[in-house]
Amino acid sequence: DGAGALDAFAEGQRWLVTAGGTREPLDPVRFIGNRSSGRQGVEVALAAAARGAEVTLIAVNVDASVLAAVTPEIEVIGVSTTAELEETVATEAPSRDVVVMAAAVSDYRLAEVSNEKLRKENADGTLTLTLVETNDILAGLAANKQDGQIVVGFAAETPGDTTLTERAMAKRRRKGCDLLAANEVGWNTGFERSDNHLIVVDEHGVVADVAGSKRETAEVLVDAILAR
Ligand code: CTP
Ligand code: CA
Repeated sequence: DGAGALDAFAEGQRWLVTAGGTREPLDPVRFIGNRSSGRQGVEVALAAAARGAEVTLIAVNVDASVLAAVTPEIEVIGVSTTAELEETVATEAPSRDVVVMAAAVSDYRLAEVSNEKLRKENADGTLTLTLVETNDILAGLAANKQDGQIVVGFAAETPGDTTLTERAMAKRRRKGCDLLAANEVGWNTGFERSDNHLIVVDEHGVVADVAGSKRETAEVLVDAILAR
């Protein structure tokens, strides 16, 4: 049967999947973060392992309740900041057949991290923080791709003037990755929920379009990666 034929399709492949969201510290007790739970990335790791791939999951501040779903054959490495994620990806990515960057990565970090807890000290009631851009890990991976390696990006987009497909195609081209999976997010959609609408684009257009649970969307994405 069709599903059975794909079951062991990733046998012998080594996959790296990142999941969750980075945190950039301000001081020892505070950070700038995002609402990514890591569920979608965890489901991608599970779906790839179910197809027979050897999978390492880089879990970026993923809650223990979400990590509880991870099966024992998946290696898990925990990190927190963008710099830690970048370093771990640099170590792990070169030996992988497929790298999926599902983690939500901060575009900025603090120019200076305070070693002491920041105090309220401005008379005018404001606080000014200086942020600097982080390195684009996905673009770096795509620019240094190993022979035959497949690099997959993610994009969470709020609705705008152009369609989700148009923005996904433009972002894939800008990042230089092989495939880009995009979903629409808003105050009440996409995050901290188990259902999702995902489109996957390559250089020619949409290769998959699926609405369903994060498990179903992950399976369709993994099949689109294997088809490539
Ligand atoms: N990403 C990354 N390193 C960064 C920022 C993002 O590797 N410093 C990766 C994410 O893991 C994701 C993809 O890039 O796979 C898309 O991120 P996104 O934030 O949508 O793209 P940006 O280029 O940061 O564009 P935007 O200005 O829309 O945030
Ligand atoms: Ca970004």
